[in-house]
Amino acid sequence: MMNKVLIAPSILASDLLRLGEQIQEAEQGGADWIHIDIMDGHFVPNISFGVPIVQLVRRSTQLPLDVHLMITSPELYIDKFRNAGADIITIHQEATPHLNRLLSYIKEIGALAGVSLNPSTPVSTISEVLDIVDLVLLMTVNPGWGGQKFIERSYQRIQQCVELIQKSGRNIYLEVDGGIDTQTAPGVVKAGANVLVAGTSVFGSRDVKNAIAQLNNSFLKNSKV
Ligand code: DX5
Ligand code: ZN
Repeated sequence: MMNKVLIAPSILASDLLRLGEQIQEAEQGGADWIHIDIMDGHFVPNISFGVPIVQLVRRSTQLPLDVHLMITSPELYIDKFRNAGADIITIHQEATPHLNRLLSYIKEIGALAGVSLNPSTPVSTISEVLDIVDLVLLMTVNPGWGGQKFIERSYQRIQQCVELIQKSGRNIYLEVDGGIDTQTAPGVVKAGANVLVAGTSVFGSRDVKNAIAQLNNSFLKNSKV
C-alpha cells in the first residue's frame, strides 16, 4: 500500500466563476490531484460537467486530473475524457457489464484505471478486477451531490477493501469520496484510505489553502498519537 495520503479537492464545490483561481489556490495549498465529477442525470439524478470543463482544468494546472465518471455507457466517453486531459479515469462498477474490458481499455490508452463502488455494492466485487485496476474509489455517500453526510458504515468497507488490496500484492490507490472533512478524515485514513476527495470541506471554505492544511493536519495529528 502507498504511504503518503493524497488530497484530491473536488471542483464540484468550487466557485466556477473563479475556477482557474480556485485551482491555483488548491495547488498552492498542497492538493495532489484535482477531482472532477462527471454526472449525466441518468446514472445519478444530477447533471454536472462535461468534457469542456476537463479541457479547461487541464489548461490551468499540471496536477493529475482525477476524473470520476458517474455516467451510464462510460465506454462512449472514455476516449473523449482521456483526450481532454484526464490522467485517472474512474468508472462505476454498477454502470457497466463490461468492467474488465473498460478498465483494460483505460490502461491501454495511457491513463490510470479506477473502479468505483456505490455504498450498497458489496466490496468483494472488486476482487475480479484487482489484477488490473490502479485505484478503487469507495463512495462514502450516495453519488450525485456534494455536501452530504458521510455514511458511517464506510469505515468497515474501507477495511475490507484494504484486506483485498493487500492480498492482491499490488499497489492500488484506495480513494474515498463524500463527506470527507476534518472530522471524518482521521478515521478513513486510520482504516486505510490513501486518497481523500474533498469538495465542500475545501472549496466551501473561504480560505482554500488553509482548508487543505487543516484537512492534512487532522489525520497527521491522529497518526502521531
Ligand atoms: C459525489 C461526488 C463527490 C463530491 C464530494 O457524488 O462524487 O466527489 O464532489 O463532495 P463533498 O466532499 O462535499 O461530499
Ligand atoms: Zn467524485
